[in-house]
Amino acid sequence: MIIQRQKNPIKLYESIFSKYGDIVFFKLGSFRFVMLNDAKAIEQVLQTDSQNYSKSTSYDRFRVIFGNGLLVSEGEVWKKQRRLMAGSFSSKQVERLQPIMVKETNAILNKWKPNEKIDLAKEMNLMTLEIISVGLLGKRQENDSLVLRQALQDILAYLQSSRHLWLQLLIAPFPIKDKYKFAIKLEKLLPLKSTKKFFASIQKVNELVLALINERRSKNLTENFLDMLIKTSGSDEDSKMSDQQMRDEVLNILLAGHESTANALTWTWHELLKNPEIYEKVKQEVHQVLSGESPTYEELEKLVYTKAVFEEAIRLYPPFWRVSRKNKIQTKIQQYDIPEITNVIVSLYTIQRSHKYWQLPEAFKPERFLENGEDHEKFAYIPFGAGPRICIGMNLAMVEALTILSMMIKKFDIEKAFEKDPTYLMSLTLQPKEGCMVNIKKVKA
Ligand code: HEM
Repeated sequence: MIIQRQKNPIKLYESIFSKYGDIVFFKLGSFRFVMLNDAKAIEQVLQTDSQNYSKSTSYDRFRVIFGNGLLVSEGEVWKKQRRLMAGSFSSKQVERLQPIMVKETNAILNKWKPNEKIDLAKEMNLMTLEIISVGLLGKRQENDSLVLRQALQDILAYLQSSRHLWLQLLIAPFPIKDKYKFAIKLEKLLPLKSTKKFFASIQKVNELVLALINERRSKNLTENFLDMLIKTSGSDEDSKMSDQQMRDEVLNILLAGHESTANALTWTWHELLKNPEIYEKVKQEVHQVLSGESPTYEELEKLVYTKAVFEEAIRLYPPFWRVSRKNKIQTKIQQYDIPEITNVIVSLYTIQRSHKYWQLPEAFKPERFLENGEDHEKFAYIPFGAGPRICIGMNLAMVEALTILSMMIKKFDIEKAFEKDPTYLMSLTLQPKEGCMVNIKKVKA
């Protein structure tokens, strides 16, 4: 089962749900699991009974990097941080960030040469990383940006490796109390080049971010996201944020805030290029709405069809293809009793393609998301998660995606340079293994 999971987790999930139903309980060694593909059960775990669940054991590995940041923190720490950070993600702040999105997107688009063949997956990653790092930390010197980019790549490669899974298997027969944490410790001791590179990268990022926090603190500015975080954090217990906590939040946002949006955009392009009539409609809308080369914040609201295209892309290809939780006490999911410390896997990919909730679920139909489109169960469409731990960057991601898509379309005609549908690379996020090869042509005046 583990080998099958590593090879093609989605095939495994699909076959489990079709054989055993939409709520499946099983044991793997000493680990207990429940897999969910049912909207009501998902609502219960992520929203109604969310206080009985914490992030699952699999997030422990991320703590090496994310520390106690928003993605992985729990309880009172999470509550306080979520409250403090909410202001930095408000519509007003996202609006302030939008010109940065335009500027950074332009800088990359200006490097593209007409008639060039490029991999959009790589370009989208670069674009979203530049946007989030400039928006968060301000424009850095080229060298700092390169160090940051390389270090984040090494960190992601480490997170995406499956070494810890094999280590868990290796130690499974031994009477060790917390096998998951033990496997993480063991992994750290492995004399591997990639492990060393990973810890060296964390060290570099820490130094860079902590130096920036010090620099910005002394300047009392309000130019970027980090300045806002510094401003929100006060001196009393309710609002105090240590430098370490701030470093953790910066890393959380840098990592959570670029990969997912980049993958969502790459999948959107895959679908646009496979569906020329839909691409044509998006082009028409973009050329009609944008008065200049780039959209203003107000114009984004008028990109109704383009937004529906993006929403449909993240239905078929949710960047976080599953999220997981663990119950702290014995709970009930629908009619089933779930013993404490069971890992609950919420399968976003399969529920967003389920025949139970969608008409022609495999078809790419942006109309579903237009006014009077298809009705759907709320918890059968959760690309940004749900409940109290719903993505804090959801609005930012939508604004960013529409800004990037419309600017690309206004400037270039993009042509498909791939033959076959891509295969899935399912690690932390859902990615097209072969990237997204395209030819770039300048839009004729
Ligand atoms: C299309 C783009 C994105 C998708 C599909 C996405 C998806 C998600 C999902 C599914 C979760 C919930 C995880 C869980 O319940 O375990 C989440 C949480 C989170 N996301 Fe996003 N995300 C996107 C963009 C962003 C951006 C742009 C940022 C920040 C700039 C961001 C920051 C976060 C953070 C900090 C959390 C943790 C929130 C908490 O636990 O309180 N995300 N995201």
